[in-house]
Order: sequence, then structure tokens, then C-alpha cells
Amino acid sequence: MSHLVTGIGQLVTNDPAVGDGSALGLLDDAAVVLENERIAWVGPSAQAPATDSTTDLEGRAVVPGFVDSHSHLVFAGDRAGEFAARMTGEPYTGGGIATTMAATRAASDEDLLAHVRGLVAEMRSQGTTTVEIKGGYGLDVEQEVRALRIAAQVTSEVTYLGAHVVPPSMRDRRDDYVALVAGEMLEACRPYARWADVFCEPASAYAFDGDETRTILKACAEAGLALRVHGNQLSEGPGARIAAEFDAASVDHCTHLTEDDVAALGAAGRLVDVENPVTGTVSTLLPGVEFSTRSPYPDAQRLLDAGAVVALASDCNPGSCFTSSMPLVIALAVREMNMSPAQALWAATLGGALALRRSDVGRIRVGARADLTVLNAPSYLHLAYRPGVPLARAFEVPAS
Ligand code: NIG
Ligand code: FE
Repeated sequence: MSHLVTGIGQLVTNDPAVGDGSALGLLDDAAVVLENERIAWVGPSAQAPATDSTTDLEGRAVVPGFVDSHSHLVFAGDRAGEFAARMTGEPYTGGGIATTMAATRAASDEDLLAHVRGLVAEMRSQGTTTVEIKGGYGLDVEQEVRALRIAAQVTSEVTYLGAHVVPPSMRDRRDDYVALVAGEMLEACRPYARWADVFCEPASAYAFDGDETRTILKACAEAGLALRVHGNQLSEGPGARIAAEFDAASVDHCTHLTEDDVAALGAAGRLVDVENPVTGTVSTLLPGVEFSTRSPYPDAQRLLDAGAVVALASDCNPGSCFTSSMPLVIALAVREMNMSPAQALWAATLGGALALRRSDVGRIRVGARADLTVLNAPSYLHLAYRPGVPLARAFEVPAS
């Protein structure tokens, strides 16, 4: 069955060969044909082919579905009190991850899955069509396997994050925990994951230093997992450079970077081939975290000027940032990180796709997945221009 989406006032394709020739590939008065969950045709609405059914969007804008390349959705419990304390001056340290670990371990499989499904639906209702989901609140073999099994029921982008923090019971045996994460836990989790991630943050007593990060990433790469890194969130540290050195697909946070880090991320970004993303490191910025931890925002332009490929993601999690909203992330990137609305939208769509080394999402062109996000607005500028207004939703082909 083919479905025509027409009456698109402004179409953002992310294909510079189309339309106005900008990075966003803007096309006015456009139409898209969807068939078998793929995009079958893109062009001016006046030239649209005949199809089985039609939706007329009456001048609304359409953008590629948001690609949220960083989230921690498998959890139970609530840390709103920790958020409130931060708003009156408490710093974020990662210490609260143990609170979520205890609540998550105590939850049933059914409750965890229902919670994840609820959050994914919340994301979809705000325009997100691809989401990466990490474990990291189980912190023992059985619990991390359980988390990844649950995540794998809702996404193919599952990330093993046994190296989120050292659990409280092993804080005086860090080396044993690193060996567990790089050994038995990895073996048990590997079948459910595409990715492995490490929270590299020597400034935190709970997270992992450079040597520990290297040990874990090396074992994960040898086990066949592709890599991502949480780096440079709380302080300058080795995370970004290690990510580039290991050819991780992405280093996420990038809040505190030295000139050398920026140069390394620029060089790693230049390795990313937009048409065939199999190598190179994307710099993923998570401004919802700075918002929710009352921290200084990363310098996006410094990274872009150095040649880095920048993505935006939510980092939806119960501690440092409990938003599922990519439109909010885009608005924060524009207002607080001086990204242009075009740079922010690209980073939240194609940037996210590259951070997941995907070429089938993040843009609207023939052959890509049929992931359209409709804005109840005439242009993508409204995503940042109308912050907090629920304009974006993932397009669903109406049941015939
Ligand atoms: O990406 N930084 C480490 N992990 C998460 C926060 C997890 C939590 O606080 O529960 C993050 O910010
Ligand atoms: Fe995170």
C-alpha cells in the first residue's frame, strides 16, 4: 500500500542535493510517498504520483523524525528531590545513580517494560522516531542482562552500560568491578546489545578513569560491540580523546573540553562519511543535562568550527535530565549554545543518525525509513521560536 503525504508547506530533507541546496535541503510545496515503511518518492506536490491513499497536511512543515541517540530509559523510581536540591545549589555528582539502581532492581520486568514503552510513546508523540537505550541501572550481571532484554523489545539501538558507575557494594573493589564489566557481564550482555558505553569521568568518585575506560572499551570492542563514551561531562578529562582513539561512534556530553580535545574531535568528525557512516566520532551534546543540573552549556560553535560533527540528544534519565523532548533540546541548543535553528535541527536528525552510524534514518530521501515528523507550524524555525509548545509529532499512516 502506498500513501501520499501532500500539502507539505516546507519539507526538510537533510539532502543538500534537493531544493534550496542548503544542508537542510529545504523544499516548499512538497509531497512524500511512503510504501512498505520506506520513502518511495519525494518531490513537488504538483508532480506527486497516484497512490492508494493520501494525507493533506495543509501547509504544515515536515522534518525527518528526530533521532535521539542517547537515553537511559530502563529504570524505576524518581529523583525529583535531587533535582530540586540542584536548583538551590547542590552539584550533580552521579551519586544518585545508586538510588535508581536500588529502585530498578526492585521493579518487576513487567513494570520496567511498561515504563520504557510509556517513555518511548512520550518521545514519539514529540517527534522522535529512533531512540537508543542504555542499561546501567542494574550494575550486576543478572540485572544488566534484564535491562538490555527489556530495551531490545523496543529498539534495535541497545547499549551495554555496565560501566555506568561502580555499584555501592563494590566501591572498595573497583578493580573487581572493572574485571566483571569487561568479562562475565559483557559476555552475558553481548547478545542483546549493538553498543557499549562507559561513563568516563575521573572527577567523579563513582565513574571510571581513563585506564579503566580503556580496559573496558578494549574488551567490548573485542567482543564485537561498537563503542560510545560518556565523556567530559563534569570536568576536563580523557573521555573525548579516548573516544576518538577507539573510533567510538560518539562521545556524549563534551561539556568541558580543552583545545586538544576540540582538535581531536574535529579530526574524528572529519572521518565521518555522511553517506556511509562506518568510522569517525560524532560529538553529541546534551543541553537538557546542563539545563537540569544548572551547569554551563558546552560550546557548540567551537566544535563545529574545528570540523566536528555535532549531534543533539535528550539523555532522558531520572537523574541528570528527565526530559524526553527533542524539541526542547533543539530550543536549548539554539538559545543557550548559539546553534542556528538549522544547525540544531540537523544535529537532532542526521547528526543523531550519524552518532548511531545509520544511513537509513535522519533524512527524507528515497529508500530511507518512512520516519516523518509533522510540525503544527509552517516552518522548522518554530521548533525554537515556540519553546514548550507541542508542535511536533511522528507521522502515522492512517488506518484505511
Ligand atoms: O548521562 N553521566 C552519567 N549518566 C547519566 C546520568 C544518570 C543518572 O544520574 O541517573 C548522564 O547524565
Ligand atoms: Fe547519559
